[in-house]
Amino acid sequence: SIVFLNDSFMPMDQAKISPMDRGFLFGDGIYEVIPTYNGKMVGFAPHIARMQEGLGLIGINLGWTEAKWRDVVETLIEKNDGGNLGVYLHVSRGADVKRSHAYPENVTPTVYAFAFEIPPANVADKSVTKTYKVNSTEDLRWKRCHIKSTALLGNVMHYQQGFAEGCNETLLFNANNELTEASACNVYVIKDGVIATPPLDNQILPGITRLILLDLLAKESSLKVEERPVTMEEVENADEIWLTSSSKEVAPVIEFNGKAVGNGEIGDVWLIAQSIFSSGKY
Ligand code: PDD
Repeated sequence: SIVFLNDSFMPMDQAKISPMDRGFLFGDGIYEVIPTYNGKMVGFAPHIARMQEGLGLIGINLGWTEAKWRDVVETLIEKNDGGNLGVYLHVSRGADVKRSHAYPENVTPTVYAFAFEIPPANVADKSVTKTYKVNSTEDLRWKRCHIKSTALLGNVMHYQQGFAEGCNETLLFNANNELTEASACNVYVIKDGVIATPPLDNQILPGITRLILLDLLAKESSLKVEERPVTMEEVENADEIWLTSSSKEVAPVIEFNGKAVGNGEIGDVWLIAQSIFSSGKY
């Protein structure tokens, strides 16, 4: 595949990065994943805004405009022949001559982007939709989960824990037994037709799929959505549990800690939400 590194496009096997790059040594960087279906990007502007915000929070001054990002992303999609692609964007602080914790001065940030195939967009059809089995564990990541840091070991370890037990996500809860998110998605619980999801704070990533979904639900449905702390007891007693992320869209969970969620089948509220998401996401 064709990738973008610093200033140019090249085949992936020709992309070379210094072993002194702080992205490699410290996980010192910010990333994004933007889904594209048949060449159409979902949530381009909010994805770039979140990345710019993250770069600002960690003091990386790249100075790229949204237009510059758009140009790189659109060219990358074109060079990889479109279709259904996730576009991965990564900015690290850059390569220094020594390994020193302090932010170095006068280093140039490293910009890397590649495209990878993603499944076709979800359709609001219970018979073809991928379902998820999840378990749960205490959220042992850091207290800056709103930053989309490339340092993902905490997330990777949580995901692996569920994966090793035959699950395809792990739900995380804080010391107060409140749901935060999953290792790579935001989480929703549905009870008696009401959707609840944890509020945006330092414990979760402000997901772009979450942003789009909540916006569409408010505008195009009469469903009630509550952004508030959600207890693990509520998760256990939910009629439906959903996950959202750029590659999953709205994904139904049918098993939680080895027990069926609701009646163990994809729920009716999911069907409404995914159909609204499917028709409005661009
Ligand atoms: N994951 N929470 C976490 C911890 C995530 O890593 C992600 C995204 C989300 C959902 O955010 P969005 O809707 O903007 O994709 C929530 C990406 C896709 C990843 O790491 O591959």
